[in-house]
Amino acid sequence: MKQLTFPKGFLWGAATAAYQIEGGWRDDGKGESIWDRFTHSPGRIDDGNNGDTACDSYHRMAEDVALMKELGLQSYRYSISWPRVLPEGRGTPNAKGLDYYKRLTDLLLQNGISPMVTLYHWDLPQKLQDIGGWVNRDVTDYFQQFASLLFKELGDKVPYWITLNEPVVTSFAGNWVGEHPPGIRDFSTALAVSHHLLLSHGKALQAYRQMGLKSQIGITICLTPMYPASKKEEDIAATKRSDGYFNRWFLDPVLKGKYPSDMIDWYSRRVVLPEITPADLTLINGKLDFFGLNNYFAGVVSADSSRFPLELAENRMGEYRTEMGWGINPEAFYDLLMRLHKDYPGIRIIITENGVSYRDMINREGKVPDENRIDFLHRYLSSVHRAIQEGVDIRGYHVWTLMDNFEWAHGFSQRFGLAYTDFATQKRIIKSSGYWYKEVIRNNGFASP
Ligand code: FCB
Repeated sequence: MKQLTFPKGFLWGAATAAYQIEGGWRDDGKGESIWDRFTHSPGRIDDGNNGDTACDSYHRMAEDVALMKELGLQSYRYSISWPRVLPEGRGTPNAKGLDYYKRLTDLLLQNGISPMVTLYHWDLPQKLQDIGGWVNRDVTDYFQQFASLLFKELGDKVPYWITLNEPVVTSFAGNWVGEHPPGIRDFSTALAVSHHLLLSHGKALQAYRQMGLKSQIGITICLTPMYPASKKEEDIAATKRSDGYFNRWFLDPVLKGKYPSDMIDWYSRRVVLPEITPADLTLINGKLDFFGLNNYFAGVVSADSSRFPLELAENRMGEYRTEMGWGINPEAFYDLLMRLHKDYPGIRIIITENGVSYRDMINREGKVPDENRIDFLHRYLSSVHRAIQEGVDIRGYHVWTLMDNFEWAHGFSQRFGLAYTDFATQKRIIKSSGYWYKEVIRNNGFASP
């Protein structure tokens, strides 16, 4: 056995998102979000559930912070429900909604847990969807106003700010695949949304710098390493496209100030591109203090000319599958970290999400022995450690997620938590992986075979 020790000051945490845990969907003046509207429409969610109550975290703040404390978390990444603080999406703030986030932030600080706030984790105010949502460029200004409000109210109490969570999902799951709200299936719409999201990020960065805050700000992007299904030239080209679609379309504007030219080329011959100005790109390329990385799986890609518009098929990589049907690919995660280091010199990474869903059960002793999740975390963290040894600048790691919660279109069917949530009683039970992670944090590392 050897001990894998992480750099001094490495930040150990867990992440959640407002809609997935808070509940209280119309308490204290909260406005409707697109997720409220979507989950209340029949047939949208696998198990027919919704996030009206979720983990009831809106009413269980003290208990949940105590849970974090028990796990020894150093950092807690949570998101702000935009319609909770601005029920109409803009205009007059809802004092009670803001107060919830102020109390949560203060309570974390009192408990020695570092707050990490995501401004947008998918729950757009329905009122803004009513005027076109992210397709409407004006929404980028409303996002800047929303961000400024939070910067003003929470300011430097929050050491880490994240503008957006996974714009790839908002863009394509919401507007091309249609399995997230607003449930549109149009590629050109999805591209317009992607650009407006990135522009919103840029405008929030601009406001942040103008307000002179001293904490750190970044964006969270979900990256998926892609590998060709064969050595055939067309599969290799398809893999590059898949990487362009999923990864570089977001990475390059944020970190290099331009969209990948191969993708602009490909798209412009098949779909309608949104208006992209040089001024937009300057904003999008604003200085980042850190890059938030999420990773869940890797893909295997082959060419398939019958599929519009990318002309490829992407399958999940890996022999073993998780409950989500995703593979287990710690090697690919390592490759991804090395590639970021090489292709985007100077990148400073905080892993803002990584984790796994399994069919956890409470055993006869009332415990949740999730050995497979420990194994997953062990393997992925070993990749992180190895990449750090090889010079990649990685400052922290957040497990998705603190406790089992509402997994979007999958309802309550997927359990990703370090703690098990009994949704009938709202009892949280720390899983074996939670106790394992606690030891990792305490030792700033772990023993590895
Ligand atoms: C990510 C999301 C997060 C959660 C995990 C499983 O894409 O950011 O909210 O759903 O997947």
